[in-house]
Amino acid sequence: DMMREVLGLKELERKIKKKLPVKDVIVVAGDSDQSPWVKREMGRACVSRIKHSLTGKDVVAVTGGTTLAAVAEMMTPDVKYRDVLFVPARGGLGEDVTNQANTICARMAEKAMGHYRLLHVPDQLSAETYQSIIEEPAIKEVLELIKSSTVVIHGIGDAKTMAERRKTPPEEMKKIEHNKAVAEAFGYYFNQHGEVVHKVNTVGIQLEDVRHVPCVIAVAGGASKAKAIQAYMKQAHQCILITDEGAAKQLVRDD
Ligand code: F6P
Repeated sequence: DMMREVLGLKELERKIKKKLPVKDVIVVAGDSDQSPWVKREMGRACVSRIKHSLTGKDVVAVTGGTTLAAVAEMMTPDVKYRDVLFVPARGGLGEDVTNQANTICARMAEKAMGHYRLLHVPDQLSAETYQSIIEEPAIKEVLELIKSSTVVIHGIGDAKTMAERRKTPPEEMKKIEHNKAVAEAFGYYFNQHGEVVHKVNTVGIQLEDVRHVPCVIAVAGGASKAKAIQAYMKQAHQCILITDEGAAKQLVRDD
């Protein structure tokens, strides 16, 4: 930790704690916008943080994205994971296979030598299909497991970047822009005050559920995500933030 003090990372952590209502924050060196390997450093920090929070028979829900993919890559086996079940936090959100929550969940569980269950539901659901799908016994069972999550690990994205990456239909795109969304996390879009302005209709964890999860870890870095992180944290409860120097420096500068 001496090194982290010298590098000024500890100082950034103290400043962020003063500025944002986070439970805890870890800042790793570098800026993941510039250097992709910084995501793996956040991943490493996340993996060691999760271990502190495990109580035995945990259900760990994970979201998709390149940052969470890096967390999965850095996962290491531990006896603590023997009775841990990994699940995707929500159904499809329009990501490529490598960045989907299902893929990341399976990869993370394999690396941890834990167990996993997947959620097989299509991305864009009509209201009727949504209703009938959540009544399917096999799906219902996984959804109940997801609702019982004790740990949630999720990414945060810039709203516009995410809406574009997901090939959001033009009507929804207009709504997201018109309502000035700046942040996105597990299918919810937030404005700069942390208010939900749009949500993707899919099964799995909902924002109300996240509030009751004992351990929530958000992993997001890069200067370009500073605004999104700040907005998201305004509404988060007791969230542990794992970020990088790029985002952290921008965060303590922004107003
Ligand atoms: O789509 C899943 C998701 O976790 C989003 O909720 C989040 O905004 C995004 O991925 C983060 O992606 P990345 O880590 O690639 O920036």
